[in-house]
Amino acid sequence: MQIQLETQPYSSIPADALVTYVFDGDSKIDGVVADLDKAMDGRLAALAAGGELTGKSLEMVLVHFPEGLDAKRLLLVGAGKAEKFNVGDLRKIAGSALRYLKSRGVKKIVFLARESQRGPDAAQAAVEGLVLADFESDKYRTEKRPNREIQSVHLAGFDSGLGADLKSAVENGRVIAESANFARDLINEPSNRLTPRILASKAEAMAKEVGLGIEILDERKISELKMGALIGVAQGSFEPPRVIVVRYTPEKAQSGGPVLGLVGKAVTFDTGGISIKPADNMEKMKYDMGGGATMLAVMRTLAYLKPSVPVIAVIPATENMPGGHAQKPGDVQVAMSGKTIEIINTDAEGRLILADGIFYARKLGATHLIDAATLTGAIQVALANVHVGAFGTPREYLDKFLDSTKAVGEKMWPMPIDDEYQEMIKSNIADIRNTGSGKGGGAITAAWFIKEFAEDVPWIHLDIAATCWVDEGRPWLAKGPTGVAIRSIVDFALKMS
Ligand code: BES
Ligand code: ZN
Ligand code: ZN
Repeated sequence: MQIQLETQPYSSIPADALVTYVFDGDSKIDGVVADLDKAMDGRLAALAAGGELTGKSLEMVLVHFPEGLDAKRLLLVGAGKAEKFNVGDLRKIAGSALRYLKSRGVKKIVFLARESQRGPDAAQAAVEGLVLADFESDKYRTEKRPNREIQSVHLAGFDSGLGADLKSAVENGRVIAESANFARDLINEPSNRLTPRILASKAEAMAKEVGLGIEILDERKISELKMGALIGVAQGSFEPPRVIVVRYTPEKAQSGGPVLGLVGKAVTFDTGGISIKPADNMEKMKYDMGGGATMLAVMRTLAYLKPSVPVIAVIPATENMPGGHAQKPGDVQVAMSGKTIEIINTDAEGRLILADGIFYARKLGATHLIDAATLTGAIQVALANVHVGAFGTPREYLDKFLDSTKAVGEKMWPMPIDDEYQEMIKSNIADIRNTGSGKGGGAITAAWFIKEFAEDVPWIHLDIAATCWVDEGRPWLAKGPTGVAIRSIVDFALKMS
């Protein structure tokens, strides 16, 4: 899909569809919508008066062969109340319009900016929305739906006085969304086509393409480093584990400055191990590598956007299988840090591999940490599939991160991490146990387990178990992997510069 900024007036670009949006309120027909209405002899005003054009959020009004316009269709998308409108809404409007028109065989779209959203932020949001919406999950369907490809989107009506800024906003939007789609592609891959070794080789290909440093630790190196928590999880599988280490080094790195460490859970399939999961929905556990894919997508983006802070991603990758060598409930493992762990439930494997990932990132010099993981079913109970659960210490570090989530329009909610929860992961025979002993608080005890390895290093933990995948498509997004958290982490890294 081509996306280009247009400087010529929208009315002179021939297109299959001209798209813009309408606010809910008294002034539905104003600005460019009033111009369109005039060209169409007041038909839009008539639609509004008749109640067919309300401006309610994501309402679609499609007019065929609009008289007075060159475009074959005019699509007006409802934008909700003008007072509440933000760039997040614009992302959804652009995405929903694309999916709506794509399903109707449209090839060429002109997206027309509105009066108060003509700057770089709006352009970037629109591009992100378009590219994310164009992603489909039908890679393995041999009979694709015919005639469904958006060939080009022309962005018209943006403030051409801001030429260079607009151009880079469009580029940034494209890089961020294409990187998210890269992650979504990985997350969609079934586990027979995405083992830890295959994930590592795909990460390697991506890193080489965009100029990032990469090192893959194989099972020998992993055992030399004594990553006992990761090895414990991996030992139940025929497939050997890998640790993927990706580095972004800025051109002018200051010595002694902060180093951001990103750690992503990449369990390429989670059967639960000996504490095996029920069959229902188990096929979804191919997406248990979503945290790792998220961090790879962040690194891919940063390779283009070039923050001034060095960033290291550490992605422990393994299957969690109940093979003959599998670890068993009651076993004790020694993590790389030297801490001993009593395995209560082999299905709480994500925190185990993160323990070694976090410790290793610290060893490599990370002064600040963020981890992302499809960690607990409990986060779904707490926040449904609306907010990502965001944990972290110190609180100021988490608050800064939450500012980034707001800036990019991703919903994340701060979760408590009081000392009382630490009590719940004390073990009778080892330093800690891998599940909480109390009732409830499963997402919090899991976070505390990870904190045992981050210790006093500023650390953020994102539990994306309920948000990394959606079973129902949304108007602006295909069902399946969402690419959540990537934009927030990228924004945060850029602001650390
Ligand atoms: N991968 C799962 C968490 C998960 C659940 C991700 C649903 C996506 C959707 C994780 O490894 C797990 O099994 N967690 C257990 C922990 C429990 C045994 C303490 C859980 O949440 O049930
Ligand atoms: Zn599990
Ligand atoms: Zn898991």
